[in-house]
Amino acid sequence: MADYIAAIDQGTTSTRCMVFDREGHEAGRHQLEHEQLLPHPGWVEHDPLEIWQRTGDVIKGALAAAKITAADVAAVGLTNQRETTVLWNKRTGRPYYNAIVWQDTRTDRIASALDADGRGDVIRRKAGIPPATYFAAGKAQWILDNVDGARADAEAGEVLFGTMDTWLLWNLTGGAGDGGRGGGVHVTDVTNASRTMLMDLETLDWDDELLSFFSIPRSMLPTIAASSPTSPYGQTKADGPFGAELPIAGILGDQQAAMVGQVCLDAGEAKNTYGTGNFLLLNTGEELVRSDSGLLSTVCYRFGDAKPVYALEGSIAVTGSAVQWLRDQLGIIGAAEESETLARSVPDNGGVYFVPAFSGLFAPYWRSDARGAIVGLSRFNTAGHLARAALEAICYQSRDVVEAMETDSGVHLDVLKVDGGITANELCMQLQADILGVEVSKPVVAETTALGAAYAAGLSTGFWSGTDELRAQWQEDKRWRPTWSDDDRAAGYATWKKAVDRTLDWVD
Ligand code: G3P
Repeated sequence: MADYIAAIDQGTTSTRCMVFDREGHEAGRHQLEHEQLLPHPGWVEHDPLEIWQRTGDVIKGALAAAKITAADVAAVGLTNQRETTVLWNKRTGRPYYNAIVWQDTRTDRIASALDADGRGDVIRRKAGIPPATYFAAGKAQWILDNVDGARADAEAGEVLFGTMDTWLLWNLTGGAGDGGRGGGVHVTDVTNASRTMLMDLETLDWDDELLSFFSIPRSMLPTIAASSPTSPYGQTKADGPFGAELPIAGILGDQQAAMVGQVCLDAGEAKNTYGTGNFLLLNTGEELVRSDSGLLSTVCYRFGDAKPVYALEGSIAVTGSAVQWLRDQLGIIGAAEESETLARSVPDNGGVYFVPAFSGLFAPYWRSDARGAIVGLSRFNTAGHLARAALEAICYQSRDVVEAMETDSGVHLDVLKVDGGITANELCMQLQADILGVEVSKPVVAETTALGAAYAAGLSTGFWSGTDELRAQWQEDKRWRPTWSDDDRAAGYATWKKAVDRTLDWVD
């Protein structure tokens, strides 16, 4: 009997495969990093063939770690770093260029030109997101415009576009097959499609006007399917890494997967994932809420042929990577965990505020002209104050997003569900409760992203009976309650806003 679901989580720094049992408990995992290619300032690339290779390795490693074979796996779910874009040839399977990563800013001219002539407003209205380097369409356009032969091949119908979910699905289900015949399934899900600037959020279909803004032929684009489809997208190949035919039955962008893994399935529920960046999403139910405050409207998930569920998202580019910067560039800590010890060496921030706007500011500011700043320094300050200011920056940026969310939705958060690496930092989580004035709650299963993809695949195939069964699996591990006075909280936030002002208009 197949008692497990396998989930592949293709992230920005690594790829992992996790195996879950019927209770949603982890049975085994394997994880491998891939290289970050940084050919020019602001450019970030991944090798899609390396990622496909790593995916095969982590699948085999996870089955071995769980001490199971493919015969024990009922279905496979996929989740992925969103927006990262790859174009490949459908007959050979060869990518035209490295995958251009969501953090890459080479398309800033494409994005600002869209905003200058009114097309940006059409993108905002139809796709729910602002024209920005962050999203996929500009990256695809850049490859078509800059790689020899790519545009001619695209016009001839030879090129396939995908975010990493689509790239892995296509390869797992057969790749190029026999020179493009009988090959892989070319599909994405609604959540990933909602990060391209090419999908109309209401019709859930590619939009011809949006495609024309980027000169992207429709023939390149995958079919858009539900996140948990009524029938599987396809079967893994018996000669692929699973060594058997298994249904692939769930796809979610990683932040939406974390929403599902946190069972934020009702309107008004929110989670904040702490990784290299932070991604705070609020479920707005079947209502598509449009932001006036710098948030993204996005698809949260679509289960089967039910109506889509939408979310408001605050994407913050630099949070955990600010702690990595303390480690790698300043050398004031030896490991990320030491940020907590160093920050605890002082009782407060000593007046220091650190705005890590290393590549501009994402939500709710969307200012590519911002650059990082450390303000309020006096000779009294130590590395401890800087470490504390870095942790506070993670929490203040999250507060900026929560404020915007409350303005847009009118929903006041009673509790914020959290997950991701930095939630192991107790001081940071206490600061988050203090800075927000809201309780912060962490689940027992911290791997909510992979769990969400497993849930999508398990719901689709009847492995789990429905969302009530999933809700019953969620358990709290720890809760942090605010301890600061309202006056301290207000004063701290006012100074943070002053510090943010100092970072703006820094580059032309
Ligand atoms: O939008 C980018 C996001 O999906 C990346 O997530 O966890 O791979 O850094 P992560």
